[in-house]
Amino acid sequence: MIEQEIKKLLQKTTNLKEIYLEVPPDASLGDYAFPCFELAKNMKKNPMEIAIELKSKIKKTNLIEKIEAKGPYLNFFINKSKLAETIIKKILKEKNNYGKGKKKKEKIMIEYSQPNTHKEFHIGHLRNVCLGSSLANILRNQGYKTITSNYINDTGTHVASALWAYLKFYKNKEPKANKGEWIGKVYVRSCQEIEKNPDYKKEVSTILKHLESNDKDIIQLWKRTKDWSLIDFKKIYKILGARFDLWFYDHELIKSSRDVITKLKEKSILQESQGALIADLEKHDLHKVILLKEDGTIPYITKDIVLAFIKFNKYKIDNSIYVVDTRQSLHFQQLFKILELYGFKQAKKCYHLSYAMVNLPNGTMSSRTGNVVLFMNMYKETLNLAISETKKRHPDWNENRILNTAKKITLAAIKFEMINVDNNKIILFDPKKAISFEGETGPYIQYVHARISSLLRKTKLPKKQILSLLKDDTEITLIKLLEDYPKKISEAASNYKPSILSNYLFELAQQFNSFYSKQPILRAEKEVKSARLCLIIAVKSILNQGLNLLGIEAPERM
Ligand code: ARG
Repeated sequence: MIEQEIKKLLQKTTNLKEIYLEVPPDASLGDYAFPCFELAKNMKKNPMEIAIELKSKIKKTNLIEKIEAKGPYLNFFINKSKLAETIIKKILKEKNNYGKGKKKKEKIMIEYSQPNTHKEFHIGHLRNVCLGSSLANILRNQGYKTITSNYINDTGTHVASALWAYLKFYKNKEPKANKGEWIGKVYVRSCQEIEKNPDYKKEVSTILKHLESNDKDIIQLWKRTKDWSLIDFKKIYKILGARFDLWFYDHELIKSSRDVITKLKEKSILQESQGALIADLEKHDLHKVILLKEDGTIPYITKDIVLAFIKFNKYKIDNSIYVVDTRQSLHFQQLFKILELYGFKQAKKCYHLSYAMVNLPNGTMSSRTGNVVLFMNMYKETLNLAISETKKRHPDWNENRILNTAKKITLAAIKFEMINVDNNKIILFDPKKAISFEGETGPYIQYVHARISSLLRKTKLPKKQILSLLKDDTEITLIKLLEDYPKKISEAASNYKPSILSNYLFELAQQFNSFYSKQPILRAEKEVKSARLCLIIAVKSILNQGLNLLGIEAPERM
């Protein structure tokens, strides 16, 4: 807010399109500094002269108490008591609307999760769900129209392999429970068998052809087994609180894929190569890519072309985000290039939001070899840790209450860890560390929120507050952080990086702790106490809102 105000003042006097402000290394030099070098270069003048000139032209405002020319910089000093008053009042008044963006015209589709049926749902998939759903919340908060979608790959070689192994080794078997997990194991078996005996590939290819041409027997088995996976997926989404406005299934795209192939041929984008149809993207450094396989079946990328058309044409979106792990970078580059060659104008509006893997301390996961940590197992393990921790802290609580709180802590632990690590960095997931109340974790932030709630339960807020009494360093730092919140969500939205918000929330929680360890609240002198209470109500409100955007609940007690 205040940064914006200073920028506006500078823009008016300098006519610069963009203003860069710095934070001086030392508080005695002010709160913000405007370096005059660029202007000096443009005007062929000495930057020191410019600083002096600007100082005489720019008038102080309510929030700016002093402006100083110091060498080549113009330094701004904030009126701290006015800042405290303005920001805190604003947060208390606007509540959940503080930081919200203005309504925007653009409609953005966020496609995320996209598991394959007949495979297991592991903790790599989890990172995707956490990133995708928090990004959707953040974009919505910033005023975009959002559509969340899921794209289930329910056909293709992996499905055919699983069906093949089922028919060969498990015919007519059906487990009583955890059917999705079980068919995932059948898929792993199929990969192992095919590796031992590559001749089996032909049998799988036959099944895939039957699947694509809607052969009755295969379709029946396919429907039954794919539902096993979907039931599992939906159970997991319920736990995670992930919601989708639209569900796409790639088996439904096969027919249109054949039409697209015809069009691509007409546009001379395809050529024949060893019985298959390929697009040669060597010119663009994107290799060659198969769009119709030699056995006549449709590969993954062709269906994605159809899907892109549907997203833009049917749902009238302006931007399309694909949250998919980094191993598919080439796939998306090829896809977007083909869309461009096709003449599809919105190709430029497609964006692959990639993220790195989640690893176990002992190596990379792969659903082909079955070396994975299933989401459900990890969730249960983490939940058990949280239950026993909560029991220890609250021996008087009943089972139900313990379970409810433990669930919230567990989800905070998991989701925060998945979001807080930069997208490009691999996560080494360690449940014990994630669930800890110390360190950079979700539960740490929840705990600060609960601590504030507990303070507020012990007292009443007096009617009158003098917020200008907040002037200690730790208080000012907190207030400046609160002021930053709107900027941080907006940055998280425009960079598609929920981690900007999670990093910020951790900093805010930490800063609250340094303030609280230095300054008494309940025992402070009456007027100071009431000002501090307002400050912590504001902190609590931001922690709560921010965590909610990340899909994390903030309990009052834990
Ligand atoms: N189901 C795919 C997989 O697990 C990811 C799908 C990504 N989305 C897309 N439009 N291709 O690898």
